[in-house]
Amino acid sequence: MAHRLKGKVAIVTGAGSRGPGLGNGKATAILFAREGASVLCVDHMKERAQETVDVIRADGWSAEAFAADVTRVADCDAMVADAVARWGGVDILHNNVGIESRHALLETTEEEWDHVMAVDAKSMFLATKAVVPALERRGGGSVICVSSIAGLRGYGRTAYAAAKAAVIGFVKTCAVQLGPKGIRVNAIAPGMVWTPMVSDLGEEMRERRRRATPLGTEGTGWDVAWGAVYLASDESRWVTGQTLIIDAGATTR
Ligand SMILES: NC(=O)c1ccc[n+]([C@@H]2O[C@H](COP(=O)([O-])OP(=O)(O)OC[C@H]3O[C@@H](n4cnc5c(N)ncnc54)[C@H](O)[C@@H]3O)[C@@H](O)[C@H]2O)c1
Repeated sequence: MAHRLKGKVAIVTGAGSRGPGLGNGKATAILFAREGASVLCVDHMKERAQETVDVIRADGWSAEAFAADVTRVADCDAMVADAVARWGGVDILHNNVGIESRHALLETTEEEWDHVMAVDAKSMFLATKAVVPALERRGGGSVICVSSIAGLRGYGRTAYAAAKAAVIGFVKTCAVQLGPKGIRVNAIAPGMVWTPMVSDLGEEMRERRRRATPLGTEGTGWDVAWGAVYLASDESRWVTGQTLIIDAGATTR
């Protein structure tokens, strides 16, 4: 590995995976660590974060598990405080937490809307707000928010699409406000990657998702994670307010 994040401290939210296999957050935490970062693996189900930590440590890299529900202010503050106490500061926040909602407008309840907005959008606001003072003390840093191509085009899953579009707006306003502090804020919009989050869709849908892209190959958590490594590293030092689309070309159609 190239040590592209050597000496950096990273927080990855949703660093576990909801099922067997590799989610976007888990893959990102693993690559951050392999690139030399110390990684706080945050999940509201600590055993999921611990699984990721175990993978990282088995390779001899540095990570710790931390239990937090990132829809809560106190938990976001505590997660940042833990990273600072453990490693002396924070350089990277990867806001990965997100849940799907698969209902169209007329089937979406008010409770579902509020829940998806809280987990997919408000969590990024709270975590980013919590980490800014720590990033400022380091002279800058990188915040990455995981959106989705669902937020970029008309998509039938109402609350999810709206929340993921909100993430892109959030990234732009933060990039403008935090740029003078040396803090870069970018989004990643993954396409139809095959992760535990969507594995209940079944093999037929898996094949349809694969074929729906110009490249015609299946994406995994690793594809999203490599984009995150770039945005976390100093290689992207002149990139802020952007949305990196990782979708095998799906949105070009
Ligand atoms: N798989 C896809 O096709 C796809 C496409 C576009 C975007 N995404 C985005 O990727 C991200 C999910 O990635 P993943 O593969 O790591 O998902 P995942 O569900 O496997 O893992 C996410 C982790 O987040 C944790 N989590 C959920 N709510 C939490 C909360 N409130 N506080 C703390 N932790 C919480 C879960 O316990 C889980 O371990 C989401 O933002 C999702 O919208 C996925």
